[in-house]
Amino acid sequence: MLRTLWGSTIGKKAVMAVSGLMMLIYLLVHMFGNLKVFFGPAEMNGYAHWLRTFGSPVLHYEWFLWVARVVLLAAVVLHGVSAYQLSRRDIAARPVKYRRRRTDYATRTMRWGGIILALFIVWHVLDLTTGTVNPRGQAGHPYENIVAGFQNWYANAIYIVAMLAVGLHIRHGFWSAAQTLGVTRPGAARLLKATATVLAVVITAGFLSVPIGVMTGVVK
Ligand code: HEM
Repeated sequence: MLRTLWGSTIGKKAVMAVSGLMMLIYLLVHMFGNLKVFFGPAEMNGYAHWLRTFGSPVLHYEWFLWVARVVLLAAVVLHGVSAYQLSRRDIAARPVKYRRRRTDYATRTMRWGGIILALFIVWHVLDLTTGTVNPRGQAGHPYENIVAGFQNWYANAIYIVAMLAVGLHIRHGFWSAAQTLGVTRPGAARLLKATATVLAVVITAGFLSVPIGVMTGVVK
């Protein structure tokens, strides 16, 4: 049954919708967690520590974090692979003379947005998880790493572009997911479109507030 589902277009769209919703929930939690930066180093770094000791003593140090990482990585891979395969099918299904035609605005935004976000996640992990590209990169000190990282103009530029891509991706993706999962009533559709916009704006603004906070000296 799983193989049939994965082989079908609707099955791949359902995989995209469910993995997308999982990442959306993660992003909301992550965005709210990041706002702790406005309450000082003790609060932010204490939160990072709590993430590593969550579930103790049943769970060992960082086990919860690793489970979350594996689930999130699976969601990213499934989302990316099904997006790629669906776009290949879409091109193959077009009549020959339309194959090279430009795709519509929403589809292009989603494809480019997805690529930008995939590249951003690699940069972001090297910046604030491993500390490799962060000027400070001190384990257990996300507050200090964030402040040090956003001193560079290019770090701010990378994050700002990525946050705008996140917003556009969520707005269109949430709405597509709702359609895939069968929302067709006009009232429900309007409500979901509005929800998609509100979610996109809240998440983008929440994330953007961190580099803006550092740039303006509110966070230092
Ligand atoms: C200004 C915006 C952002 C800031 C300041 C920020 C900050 C951070 C920090 C400090 C960590 C490390 C947490 C820790 O190790 O305790 C982290 C991890 C992470 N962030 Fe962000 N983040 C931002 C935006 C994003 C966005 C937009 C995404 C996804 C598209 C994202 C995805 C992740 C992931 C997947 C991890 C976990 C990496 C791992 O531990 O394996 N972040 N972020």
